[in-house]
Amino acid sequence: MSAHRHVVPPRADKGHLKVTESQLREWGEALGRAITPPLIVTLAGELGVGKTTLAQAICLGYGVNGDITSPTYALVQEYAAPRSVVFHIDLYRLEFPEQLTNLGWDEIVSCRSLVLVEWPERAGERLPADHLPIDLDYVPGDPTRRILLAG
Ligand SMILES: Nc1ncnc2c1ncn2[C@@H]1O[C@H](COP(=O)(O)OP(=O)(O)OP(=O)(O)O)[C@@H](O)[C@H]1O
Ligand SMILES: [Mg+2]
Repeated sequence: MSAHRHVVPPRADKGHLKVTESQLREWGEALGRAITPPLIVTLAGELGVGKTTLAQAICLGYGVNGDITSPTYALVQEYAAPRSVVFHIDLYRLEFPEQLTNLGWDEIVSCRSLVLVEWPERAGERLPADHLPIDLDYVPGDPTRRILLAG
């Protein structure tokens, strides 16, 4: 979303940027430091590509203290941070968008906080149009790097 361009640090333009895990974490922390809530960030990409790794780095940069776990089993994790609470949502186990209601989805996406969503495509049309999209892709033949697309 153009309204969010200012929070995407310069190296993550729309080109094909290939990053190592430590570069991805560094970039995620910089993004987290730059975010002013409210903001929904979607983290798309195949199984195991690095969505949670990036979400954890964004949380760290945003000022979340302590352990940042993967929300896969709980679906939603909530963290306290100086600028707002952070919701980290993993929709991998969502079977259909209607189940979002039970998660408190409508309240979460309208709560003026930072919301990080893995597997955002599972939300279908209930994903607000106004969000910052991030995509991670595998690099064929290079298991240490990922393609990062943001903004
Ligand atoms: N360049 C890289 N960027 C991110 N992760 C990397 C990179 N290279 C290797 N990895 C490894 O890939 C794995 C990414 O796991 P992670 O849980 O973040 O993925 P995920 O996309 O959240 O998976 P899932 O689809 O199960 O939610 C980690 O084990 C990490 O160490
Ligand atoms: Mg994950």
